[in-house]
Amino acid sequence: MAVLDIARMGNPILRRRAGDVPDPRAPEIRRLVSDMLETMEYAGGTGLAAPQVHVPLRIVVFFVEAERAARESAGEADDGDPGEADEMSDDMVDDIVGGGVPLTVLINPEIAVLDATVSLGVESCLSVPGLAGEVPRVAAVRYRGHALDGSLVERTARGFHARVVQHEVDHLDGILYPQRMTDLSRLTFTSELERVRRHAPAEV
Ligand code: NI
Repeated sequence: MAVLDIARMGNPILRRRAGDVPDPRAPEIRRLVSDMLETMEYAGGTGLAAPQVHVPLRIVVFFVEAERAARESAGEADDGDPGEADEMSDDMVDDIVGGGVPLTVLINPEIAVLDATVSLGVESCLSVPGLAGEVPRVAAVRYRGHALDGSLVERTARGFHARVVQHEVDHLDGILYPQRMTDLSRLTFTSELERVRRHAPAEV
């Protein structure tokens, strides 16, 4: 296992379409995924795509913590009043998203739009360190891909889960989240976001 170097915006590998993995069960793919997981954990990310570690293959890894899924989904709906999170979770019981998503490896993922309603949510990316931006994403997707044992993973995702999957699969097509933004005035240094939050009134 090894922590790998993460390519940053401007590196051409992040603009290329990644290629299909011929055999998801190949030992070198297992080694690569193991290094990707270690790199993601070390960097504190919630997702990582192979091109981000300089490998042009269609592999993504991600997870969603339940608490974060509820918070982010509530944030999209009402601009982040944490008091709404509990109310939101009832609406989301019928899909796995609602709660967290376990650590997932997707090889050769495919994604289809289930609900084209677009909402804005804040995203950041290990390849665009120090920045965050408001990105429009569709509300629900269905995705499928292979796990390391070759089995098929197929899920419906909504809210923050759907956002994470769209973000990671975009990496495989050479797209970084700033390219999805419709209002670049909402691209922000995360250090400024923290500063604004500290000085914001308690009730907004
Ligand atoms: Ni990213």
